[in-house]
Amino acid sequence: MKNKILDILYKNMGSAVSGQELSRRLGVSRTAVWKHIKALSAEGYSIKSSGGKGYNLTQSDVLNEYELRKTIGEDIPFVFKKSIDSTNNLAKKIAVETENSFMFVVAENQESGRGRLGRSFESANKKGIWCSFILKPDLDPESALIITVAAASAVCKTIEEVCELETGIKWPNDIIAGKKKICGILSEMSCETGAIEYIVVGIGINIKQTLNDFSDEVAEIATSVLLEAGRRCLRAEIISSLCYNMQEVYGLVKEGNIKEIVNRWKKYSVTDGKAIKIIKNGVIANVFAEGIDDRGRLIITDENGVKTEYNSGEISIRGIMGYT
Ligand code: BTN
Repeated sequence: MKNKILDILYKNMGSAVSGQELSRRLGVSRTAVWKHIKALSAEGYSIKSSGGKGYNLTQSDVLNEYELRKTIGEDIPFVFKKSIDSTNNLAKKIAVETENSFMFVVAENQESGRGRLGRSFESANKKGIWCSFILKPDLDPESALIITVAAASAVCKTIEEVCELETGIKWPNDIIAGKKKICGILSEMSCETGAIEYIVVGIGINIKQTLNDFSDEVAEIATSVLLEAGRRCLRAEIISSLCYNMQEVYGLVKEGNIKEIVNRWKKYSVTDGKAIKIIKNGVIANVFAEGIDDRGRLIITDENGVKTEYNSGEISIRGIMGYT
């Protein structure tokens, strides 16, 4: 019933629909309509009831199955949760059972969001997009990093398209806006007899946080779309765009068009051509980042001019995420 009311209110957005009209069209009493409207308002829908004229729905940032289906369409499977420990955890469970080779899990809240290197990831209720894509690429496990690289470019494209905000990729998995981290990516894979069984690409984008929403621990290095672009974007629209941009880059992976993935990386990279610090075998080294290879590994040149590939760990770039 709630969805039917929403269908009618969306069709008439900008003008009011009377309680009488809703009750006639839905075959329920006006009191029942009023109760549903109350429930929708409690869910976050902004519905003005202007004295006697009826109910008028205005744009609202609500995340639920209805809103996601409305923006994404019917074709892409997903699971929506109000609250969960970590979308990556659920995605990994689903990945074992599902035949789908492209689907995602999204939650409004994560109680124990996970980051790379065993860290936790702040995922406050309704403040961001916490989602995990399940992919089953026919790819050599050694090349799995290229998926993270591809996903990073899909995130940048999405934020650019929907929020009109420019972002950059700090290799391998941080998305940067205004020198701070706006999104992190955690890819986890399972392999069987030397082949990839599945990859879960967990993406956490900070959308509506203000400075007070971040803990002291991350306030210096984290930012959000609201803080950087000063605008409110609808989470369902961002997820829909991300979904299609992820599908597009996954298509490139499946076609083996790694050249295009590397080109997209270059477009958004804030890493290439920079003097950076890496930790290799427990030792900090100053190196120069040249770009990435076709496996997503960072190509670096050391102080003696020796070129190698770097494929794990973290890098620091002066001026970015608090590194001086
Ligand atoms: C990082 O920056 O270290 C990676 C952060 C990844 C966070 C996302 S939020 C959705 C998904 N679920 C998780 O528990 N983690 C990822």
